Amino acid sequence: MTVRRTRREFLQTVAAASAASPTILRAQTSAARPIAANDRVRLAAVGVGIRGQQDVRSALKTPGVELAAVADVYDGRLALAKEVWGNQIVTTRDYREVIARADVDAVLIATPDHWHRQIAIDAMKAGKDVYVEKPMVQDLDDGALVIEAARQTGRILQVGSQHPSSIVYAKAKELFRGGAIGEINLVEAWINRNSPTGAWQYSIPPDASPQTIDWDRFIGRAPKRPFDPVRLFRWRNYRDYGTGIPGDLFVHLFTAIHFVVDALGPTRAIAMGGLRYWHDGRDVPDVMLALYDYPKTDKHPAFTLSLKVNFAEGAGDNTTFRFVGPEGVLTIGDSVVLSKRGRASEPGHTADTFAKATEEAFLKDYRAKYPDKPQLRAGHDEVYAAPPRYNSTEDHFRNFFDAVRTRRPVLEDAVFGLRAAGPALLANYSYFENRPIGWDADKMTRTTVGSH
Ligand SMILES: NC(=O)c1ccc[n+]([C@@H]2O[C@H](COP(=O)([O-])OP(=O)(O)OC[C@H]3O[C@@H](n4cnc5c(N)ncnc54)[C@H](O)[C@@H]3O)[C@@H](O)[C@H]2O)c1
Repeated sequence: MTVRRTRREFLQTVAAASAASPTILRAQTSAARPIAANDRVRLAAVGVGIRGQQDVRSALKTPGVELAAVADVYDGRLALAKEVWGNQIVTTRDYREVIARADVDAVLIATPDHWHRQIAIDAMKAGKDVYVEKPMVQDLDDGALVIEAARQTGRILQVGSQHPSSIVYAKAKELFRGGAIGEINLVEAWINRNSPTGAWQYSIPPDASPQTIDWDRFIGRAPKRPFDPVRLFRWRNYRDYGTGIPGDLFVHLFTAIHFVVDALGPTRAIAMGGLRYWHDGRDVPDVMLALYDYPKTDKHPAFTLSLKVNFAEGAGDNTTFRFVGPEGVLTIGDSVVLSKRGRASEPGHTADTFAKATEEAFLKDYRAKYPDKPQLRAGHDEVYAAPPRYNSTEDHFRNFFDAVRTRRPVLEDAVFGLRAAGPALLANYSYFENRPIGWDADKMTRTTVGSH
């Protein structure tokens, strides 16, 4: 008799699983101790657009952190900084003025990607610790320069991709390392969106003009162009300033996967996709899929990674990871779900496809080996959720400011940052060069494909 899970048994298992009440994870809280005057950290923010504002709000949740100065190339954002954080905030269009200030200890960089390298290096050379938004760099060649500047100056650098500070991803890592799914063989991750702002069509302020914007300082190292506010406020749509889907979104997926699995990176990448829906003048795809091979290391077996971002799918934003092993699957979304695989007490067989005498001979042996009635050990789900309103970015800043105060390492330093940004950027190389690309995760350099 072939042992199969009937549809009914399956439905019972699923019902039991979905009824599983979540375990609520404990959020970190800062020790409620008074902060001495010399323990205060004075922060300057460079780029206070959408993310810069969220970051400053999150940073100020760490006790003893104060916002001292803001730099942004658009005057409207400088006006907003004073509206939100007070008139005492020093504001300027020129980031070099804020990193030169003696009363600034740390610099948050939330500009478009093409400025990350330069501002991070300038800030570290000015003696400041740095929290730089992801992707750490726009180009692979920038990576070694940032790593070297951090090493030479001894400054703290944290990359702002927050999953490694999240209690949800910490739980996933604990379950993974504890062997919950067995030897990993596949990781799948995707982010789907289906809205104009989700697809980077951000609002253009009506006062945007060459008078209110320092256009040349936005352009920086990118090719010179006449003033065009769309390129500033929707910079992600252009390769000159952004990194497309890979640097914007794949990088978060790499950060989380490398954190959970303790992986250094893949050996090769291949990406496909296209501009399918948002025909608004952008020069980057709005659908991208990429495959990566990860080699066996002493931390994990070899596995394959599949990534997908689609800006015209489904009904809303979602980010999902599936870490797949023979014993179960870890799914991470807003919470972690460990789905343990059900197991039959015997392997089952296909002897009824043999000639009669052969089937009987087979079954004689089989029943001798498995004399008991077949049993099905049902699978089950365990759900671990963060408390309501949990914000992992606040924990990521707490980790940064702890490092600033204690000089202990951060969770996501420049090397970690390049190990996440590098494989993400490979997807761009593969897509635009129309071929697979090799990667040496140890040296963090491109290689010739075929060396895996
Ligand atoms: N960690 C996350 O979850 C997350 C989420 C969103 C964005 N980000 C990252 O944050 C960064 C900013 O993204 P955003 O969505 O806030 O973009 P945004 O366009 O809303 O903000 C960028 C700001 O930088 C300013 N700017 C441009 N060039 C500048 C320069 N040379 N000096 C000073 N200011 C300059 C712009 O005027 C704007 O106010 C990007 O690198 C992005 O990848 C991270």
